[in-house]
Amino acid sequence: MKKYMWSTHKIVKETEDTITIYFDTAQKTFTYVPGQYLNMKCVINGEVLIRSYSFSSKPSDEFPSITVKRVSGGKMSNHLVDHAVYISSWEIDAPFGNFVLEKQVAAYAQIVLLAGGSGISPLFSMLKSINKNTKIPLLIYGNKSPEETIFWNELEAMQVYGQLNPYYSFTSDEFVSSRINQIAGRFSLLLLYSIIRKQVAVLEEAHYYICGPVGLMKLYQEALLGLNIPPEQIHTEYFVPIPEENLVFENHGKSKDVIVTYFQDHYSNNEVQTYECTSLIEVKANQSLLDAMNENHIKVLSSCKNGTCGTCWALKTDGKVRMVNNHALNEQNISEGIILLCQSYPMDEEVVISLS
Ligand SMILES: Cc1cc2nc3c(=O)[nH]c(=O)nc-3n(C[C@H](O)[C@H](O)[C@H](O)COP(=O)(O)OP(=O)(O)OC[C@H]3O[C@@H](n4cnc5c(N)ncnc54)[C@H](O)[C@@H]3O)c2cc1C
Ligand code: FES
Repeated sequence: MKKYMWSTHKIVKETEDTITIYFDTAQKTFTYVPGQYLNMKCVINGEVLIRSYSFSSKPSDEFPSITVKRVSGGKMSNHLVDHAVYISSWEIDAPFGNFVLEKQVAAYAQIVLLAGGSGISPLFSMLKSINKNTKIPLLIYGNKSPEETIFWNELEAMQVYGQLNPYYSFTSDEFVSSRINQIAGRFSLLLLYSIIRKQVAVLEEAHYYICGPVGLMKLYQEALLGLNIPPEQIHTEYFVPIPEENLVFENHGKSKDVIVTYFQDHYSNNEVQTYECTSLIEVKANQSLLDAMNENHIKVLSSCKNGTCGTCWALKTDGKVRMVNNHALNEQNISEGIILLCQSYPMDEEVVISLS
């Protein structure tokens, strides 16, 4: 992943409380896989905020896009939905994430997408990336009403052209429909069993991608496990930090010394000068590298602190660390030495970290 400064190409209003931001990358090469996300930094009322947003565009699109839904009381989402049209440049760190549609999977397997609300965003990127010749993807998507359904027109058009087999549930009391694929009310386990059994040719050969509100995601997972889908074919992306079971971290009760290289700004006579610094810091027993760096006044950006967002990534150039949770890095990132500082603990005295 890398840091970018992108400008606004255009902003599109999707629903009353959702927008899509299309970025102009100034034709600089940027690659990602459907399902991945970016981290965006904004300063709102003097506070530096970083939030993750999945790409809703497909990788071959000229202008990468994200789709943001307002969260009640949320700082960044409200700022973006209300003010994105006035923002011309964006600080981006990308791409992140291991919730991805692999090319070989898209080529042979039936794809089943299970969404709710803004969870459609990474799934829409996947949907548009699927080769039109493969088996028609099944989409199961819960919302309040068609008007509040993100990408409603595009999904309807895909159905008309035989590129998508969608099943919707609408929870609004006013919603009525005679269409067999539009259910009034919430999805239930029985309903999900029935749709998936009828619409998926070989249950255990399909791949299932789930993203949406936590309660709905749990229902989808329960349904798939109830249908004996192999767990390795069920892929999930949470938009809120995932509660992890209490991991007992074994560090032999000893502190470790770690070398950190980083950049630091110095201000003199109204000028900023940036220096590359190297420090030897003590990481206490059972202390994460992120906490140790903060304690030693080494500035590292972080957001979720539980391995979901990827904001705190750094390069380990030497030594051994143990990373307890990781929902942000893929195998290639890890093989390149990238770690999440909030989840990493030094295991020997050789550890060298580069934030530069
Ligand atoms: C990998 C990843 C991908 C994401 N992709 C998208 C995307 O494509 N589109 C999108 O709109 N959002 C996405 N999100 C969520 C996004 O990062 C923010 O969390 C969301 O915009 C809310 O931020 P906020 O600053 O407005 O709310 P905050 O000020 O951080 O939070 C306000 C309150 O809302 C709760 N909250 C935070 N996020 C959510 C949420 N998603 N749903 C319900 N309650 C929430 C918090 O617990 C808190 O109580 C993604 C998150 C992750 C981790
Ligand atoms: S702060 Fe989110 S992964 Fe470390």
